[in-house]
Amino acid sequence: MKNQETAQAPEARVHWSSRWGFFLVTVGSAVGLGNLWKFPYMTGSNGGSAFVLVYLFCILLIGVPLLMAETLLGRRGQASPVGTMRLLVAEAGASKAWLAIGYIGIMGSFLILSFYSVVAGWVLEYTWQAAGGFAPAPKEAFGQAFSDLLANPGRLIFWHTLFMAMTAAVVLGGVTSGIERANRIMMPRLFLILLFLTGYGAFAADLPAAFRFLFHFDAAAINRSVLFAAMGHAFFTLSLGMGAIITYGSYLDRATSIPRICLQVAVADTLVALLAGLSIFAVVFAQGLEPAAGPGLLLQTLPLAFSQMPGGQVVGFLFFVLVVFAAWTSSISLLEPSVTLVVERFGLGRQVAVLLVTLGIWLLGVAVALSFNAWSGVTLFGLGFFDLLDTLTSKIMMPLAGLLIAVFTAWVMQRRHVADEIGLSGRSFSFWYRVVAFVSPVAIAIIFLNVIGILG
Ligand code: PHE
Repeated sequence: MKNQETAQAPEARVHWSSRWGFFLVTVGSAVGLGNLWKFPYMTGSNGGSAFVLVYLFCILLIGVPLLMAETLLGRRGQASPVGTMRLLVAEAGASKAWLAIGYIGIMGSFLILSFYSVVAGWVLEYTWQAAGGFAPAPKEAFGQAFSDLLANPGRLIFWHTLFMAMTAAVVLGGVTSGIERANRIMMPRLFLILLFLTGYGAFAADLPAAFRFLFHFDAAAINRSVLFAAMGHAFFTLSLGMGAIITYGSYLDRATSIPRICLQVAVADTLVALLAGLSIFAVVFAQGLEPAAGPGLLLQTLPLAFSQMPGGQVVGFLFFVLVVFAAWTSSISLLEPSVTLVVERFGLGRQVAVLLVTLGIWLLGVAVALSFNAWSGVTLFGLGFFDLLDTLTSKIMMPLAGLLIAVFTAWVMQRRHVADEIGLSGRSFSFWYRVVAFVSPVAIAIIFLNVIGILG
């Protein structure tokens, strides 16, 4: 039975129109709120350059090799994350338990999108306000404005609904005319806006101070919590383990070289995080504000800065448009894995599948929105619903899926299948293979045990 199974799906799967198409959609998935919202505030709260250094190290040692592995799985399977794992498990004659990689990915992307969309909703609200310009006001007023937004379920649900509708609208269009086209429009503009903002940072704000903050080497500032925060973030920012990369890989044709393009994606993602960090901190320092402001950095500190600086209205508006583009192209990659599974499993049309999945995620998102106000008293394991979902996905499901992907690729799949699919040979293949077999799993196991330790 087993031998008759091949890695080919029964019918031909749609493919991205080109190598460039795959590059854009994958960068689109990777570059998101993780780069523009999480990275700056985590850097600010974790001692600046210490966090950046460890993060860069993790991207290179865990992130890039795993990004290649995950793309490889998807391309070989040519199906949804679950369908892909079904084929690969059969091909390797392995236990069905490995289907967990597919199921964790689907569940993870579903859960992440439910709260990602609520945060993206905050960004839509601030984009709306930025269009009119932020009126100068004392610092506390900006903090109060953000708290008022969180306390208002109607507004949160309105923006969350709009963002889910935007995401669904793109995915409804299909793989090439929806997802690829949206990324072709948004990603180049995102880069242009970012370059403009960094240029603005160089001339109008305090770029040298930002540069020192991010790159001044200070080994003493590296401690365990910095190490673990940076490793977890490397997963999140590269969209690893959550079905998105397997799904995008499944739309990749056999002609494209996986290692090179994955490296380019990781470089682009890192560049965006660093440029965003530079321009944001340049503004923060120029205005004498606090870099360690936490999650509110983007929504309280920056609007305050924009309200005070020359050209703040235009720059502020462009900045929030940039964040919307980034969040939107990521959320698309969070919706597609469940959609492709529902189509595959239940034989439904894409339209019906998009509507059903969107409705499910939207409902969960409403609960997330309410967890900031009406249901703020409801907690589980001492965490509110929002924190619970964030912890469950980025601290547990992502490292677990990453660990399983590394072990499956290096220890369960046949080595010649892996070599054939990744298209590396000689020393570069052995190097990558060893990293996936040993370095990444060990590093992930360390984060994972630490998290369990913290929770327990
Ligand atoms: N990488 C995205 C970001 O940085 C988030 C994401 C995680 C997207 C997992 C897809 C899958 O915002």
